[in-house]
Amino acid sequence: MAWNPGTYLSFEAERTRPAAELLARVPNEHPASVVDLGCGPGNSTALLAARWPKAKVEGIDSSPDMLAKARCSGIGADWVEADIANWTPSRPPDVIFSNAALQWLTGHDRLLPRLMSFLCNSGTLAFQIPRNFDDPCHTLLHDVARDGPWAGALENIPDRCGVLAREDYFAILEPHAGRVDIWETRYVQVLEGEDAVYRWMSGTALRPFAAALEGGEREAFLGEYRSRVAKAYPRRASGMTLYPFRRLFAVAVR
Ligand SMILES: C[S@@+](CC[C@H](N)C(=O)[O-])C[C@H]1O[C@@H](n2cnc3c(N)ncnc32)[C@H](O)[C@@H]1O
Repeated sequence: MAWNPGTYLSFEAERTRPAAELLARVPNEHPASVVDLGCGPGNSTALLAARWPKAKVEGIDSSPDMLAKARCSGIGADWVEADIANWTPSRPPDVIFSNAALQWLTGHDRLLPRLMSFLCNSGTLAFQIPRNFDDPCHTLLHDVARDGPWAGALENIPDRCGVLAREDYFAILEPHAGRVDIWETRYVQVLEGEDAVYRWMSGTALRPFAAALEGGEREAFLGEYRSRVAKAYPRRASGMTLYPFRRLFAVAVR
């Protein structure tokens, strides 16, 4: 289930925009230590390093391929291979930041208090996760998975990762924070080119499905998903495809 940094970054502007909007709400002015959890190829880490050039910035990710790309980026950060689920910082960070990564982990009711406990006083946990799991790009994935000879091979892939209701996030963070800023944004992303939503999903949620299949079965599954998703998100005469995308943001200050 390897990540492909090239596929992921084919929509770099759209994927990085929520990181910038999240970062704009982080109040810490002169943090000494900043961590980017699930840093991927470093696109979100670059924003942190640019805002706080004097801070020690660390990018944490479990994917060697993503980290290899990040290491070549020239961004002023240290890159560490680790699983967020059992990562512990070497010293209390001022800011723990995470854009589009925590949805890959389950147990947010335990994970988020754990991350809050690592922060120094007045430290901030800021994260963004997609909340579009009821949209056709995801529901069609699971419909197609259930509806073919590949069903057995795909039946254990979870249908919404670890993501909870937005009120749950406030309830989880509130006891651990002096202040919680929480909001949702529904972007209407304008994507260019053929099979745009299929290509978007290939960089993220489609990966575990593709990895569980082989040969002709894999091609047939991907072809069926590609055709159904193209009907759900039709390409306009201009060549553009509108791809609405809801995301949840939270900034919790200790
Ligand atoms: C969608 S990318 C986000 C990359 C970047 N933060 C951004 O803003 O676009 C998600 C990243 O989270 C990483 N990831 C997923 N689960 C992880 C885990 N349990 N521990 C560490 N990294 C994880 C993946 O390897 C991937 O690089």
